[in-house]
Amino acid sequence: MRKKLFIKTWGCQMNVYDSARMADVLAPLGYDRTEDQTQADLIVLNTCHIREKASEKLFSELGRLRAVQKARETQGVKVMIVVAGCVAQAAGEEISRRAPYVGLVVGPQAYHHLPEMLARAEQGRGACVLDTDFPAESKFDFLPQEQANQKGISAFLAIQEGCDRFCSYCVVPYTRGLEYSRPLAAIVDEARVLVDGGAREITLLGQNVNAYHDETSGKRLADVIEKLAALDGLLRIRYTTSHPLDMDDALIAAHRDIPKLMPFLHLPVQSGSDKILAAMNRKHKADDYRRVVEKLKIAQPKLALSSDFIVGFPDETEADFEATLQIVRDVTYAQAFSFKYSRRAGTPAAVMPTQVPEEIKEERLARLQALLRQQQTDFNKACVGQTMSVLVENPSRHEGFMFGRSAYMQAVRLKGDAAMVGTEHTVTITRGDPNSLTAA
Ligand code: 5AD
Ligand code: SF4
Repeated sequence: MRKKLFIKTWGCQMNVYDSARMADVLAPLGYDRTEDQTQADLIVLNTCHIREKASEKLFSELGRLRAVQKARETQGVKVMIVVAGCVAQAAGEEISRRAPYVGLVVGPQAYHHLPEMLARAEQGRGACVLDTDFPAESKFDFLPQEQANQKGISAFLAIQEGCDRFCSYCVVPYTRGLEYSRPLAAIVDEARVLVDGGAREITLLGQNVNAYHDETSGKRLADVIEKLAALDGLLRIRYTTSHPLDMDDALIAAHRDIPKLMPFLHLPVQSGSDKILAAMNRKHKADDYRRVVEKLKIAQPKLALSSDFIVGFPDETEADFEATLQIVRDVTYAQAFSFKYSRRAGTPAAVMPTQVPEEIKEERLARLQALLRQQQTDFNKACVGQTMSVLVENPSRHEGFMFGRSAYMQAVRLKGDAAMVGTEHTVTITRGDPNSLTAA
């Protein structure tokens, strides 16, 4: 009999990709995905460790799930709870101690071990099975070729994982390990599978995706994009997330030369203050970032940008914060994410002496977000009257309308029917709201 698998995913797009891949690994064992956790035989929590709040969510969710597990027990069903992802990697022991009803804790590098570990956990009579080592082999060589769990028009493809940059605030090098790039041939094969399965847009993923380098062939991200652009049926290519110093000339040129590469780039700057950028170990100054953006805009005048920002990093003064507001005003963003600095145990910034009080972080975040929201609204309003290409993804909630995305990832509502799914349509924008566009 088929069994039911419920996966809850927090965090970045890499986690969304990993969740689909875990479902692919578990399918041959008889598991189909369900959206209803109360019916699940196997529950996987795919966690994020990037900020405090993200990790706290795991423990409150586990408390709730314990009740679900107990209720099912009275019906004679044994529910297996698995904690995966970056909290599993960083705090595996703590999870098995604080939540002994968790059967299995698995770090992001070990998802290909899931079948074998599940078998051990099922025989384990209650003892939690832990796998958070960084295995010598790459999971990518062992995950199934089939991509049964990515059925949408827009698909993710992980090409690189981990990071060697060691920004002083960031847990990624510890949770995802050092940088690893997949061989180009394997990426092209996976892209083909995705396109054959209906994908029309592929977002190439990596914690530092533009650091991609194939060890054997020396190929870089621009080469990956060029190869994928040659695939019939694939309409759009994106990549995320990038470090400004890894924006090499070939990649910048790809924005000029490859029409399938969308003119929208997530290029985090984090702060506009050189003092804070140095303390963050970003290894570039604010003007270096401005120069990269300038080069990109010369290569692709239609380019729009997105970024991540951290406010209240240790020792950030009002003047440093003002420099962040200034770089936002100078660059202008179509969209952005901003966060209060969160102390992460084991990272260098966590023990920096001049931590910024919570009230000041709150206040700066509110000011930054007001500016970013204004820029996003202005960007969307400026689209009114323009004609643009929309990739249609699915029906909208409103009868007779479809939902799609612009080149800039804006949600666009347009008239139409299900026959349009997976195709690009040129429309004229009639309305620009802060979070979406409407077409005639
Ligand atoms: N505190 C706050 N934000 C963080 N980020 C990463 N680490 C932290 C932290 N300790 C943000 C960065 C990064 C995004 C994914 O999360 O802005 O680009
Ligand atoms: Fe969260 Fe970073 Fe892990 Fe993604 S890689 S899940 S953002 S901690």
